[in-house]
Amino acid sequence: MGRLLRELALRVLGERGRLVWSRLEIIGDIAVIKKPIHGDLTVEEFRLLAEELLKVVPSVRSVWLSVTPVTGPHKTRGYIHLAGEPRSWTIYREHGCSFKVDITRVFITPRLGYEHIRVAKLVGEGEVVVNMFAGVGTFSIIIAKHSKPSRVHSIDVNPDAYNLMVENIRLNRVEGIVIPYLGDAARVVEEKLVGVADRILMPLPDLALEYTPQALLALKGPRGFIHFYLHLKADKGGEFYRRAVEMVRSRVESEGWSLLNAKTRVVRKVGPGLVQVVVDAEVERSRGMA
Ligand SMILES: C[S@@+](CC[C@H](N)C(=O)[O-])C[C@H]1O[C@@H](n2cnc3c(N)ncnc32)[C@H](O)[C@@H]1O
Repeated sequence: MGRLLRELALRVLGERGRLVWSRLEIIGDIAVIKKPIHGDLTVEEFRLLAEELLKVVPSVRSVWLSVTPVTGPHKTRGYIHLAGEPRSWTIYREHGCSFKVDITRVFITPRLGYEHIRVAKLVGEGEVVVNMFAGVGTFSIIIAKHSKPSRVHSIDVNPDAYNLMVENIRLNRVEGIVIPYLGDAARVVEEKLVGVADRILMPLPDLALEYTPQALLALKGPRGFIHFYLHLKADKGGEFYRRAVEMVRSRVESEGWSLLNAKTRVVRKVGPGLVQVVVDAEVERSRGMA
């Protein structure tokens, strides 16, 4: 799709088409073009490109320009509508599940698709999972559909994400398995989810390390799994993998737990020289800790 966008840009804008990034995200029937950080392409030029895209890809009904990086506590982007239906909601499909999303109000990216199914396949039968930053329910619902958890408690602080998660739970018929909560993850765990979980997901690099005490509090046994998502500067030698593990180790040790095992992988590139890394951590409460 990226190559198609570049070809269309050259056709419609001539040499100036080279300024268009070849990144195109398709979310349901919405296409999102990313505005490059540098370059002086005008919204009108992007509109010409969007009109062409609508003609060439009939499954796309609405085209938007993303004009900011992901920002703010709800991790949303700024958008300008370019062409087609002026509609920002759609049904996004991933791994046989359907998600109603509004791209202007909630975080959503197809670039987490592999990570969603990878984690789902790690979940054992009967496990209780706490997803501290659940968004519209992508990880949680895919886990419920592809594995056999007994519960996936799913928290989000953004009321729009929460409301869409509630709809998505119904849409995918996982009521009673995926349990939605609206609120700050630390508060929800402290008030409702102490000592319930086998596995915790923390897919929010801004808060993963800060909310480690609550992730540990949610675990039921002396042992459990936590998936930490972090942003790190990449280096060619792969030193950042070691750094990621050390960050997690020192954080869990400062809470009186030990890191038994840790596996790391790069989830995606998130900026120039910046990567999102996941640390799959198995942790154990240190002896002598209540
Ligand atoms: C990166 S997105 C989650 C992505 C989602 N898990 C997915 O795979 O599509 C992070 C989410 O954390 C939520 N969030 C931010 N701060 C939070 C907090 N303190 N407690 C709970 N959720 C929070 C945001 O509203 C956002 O939906």
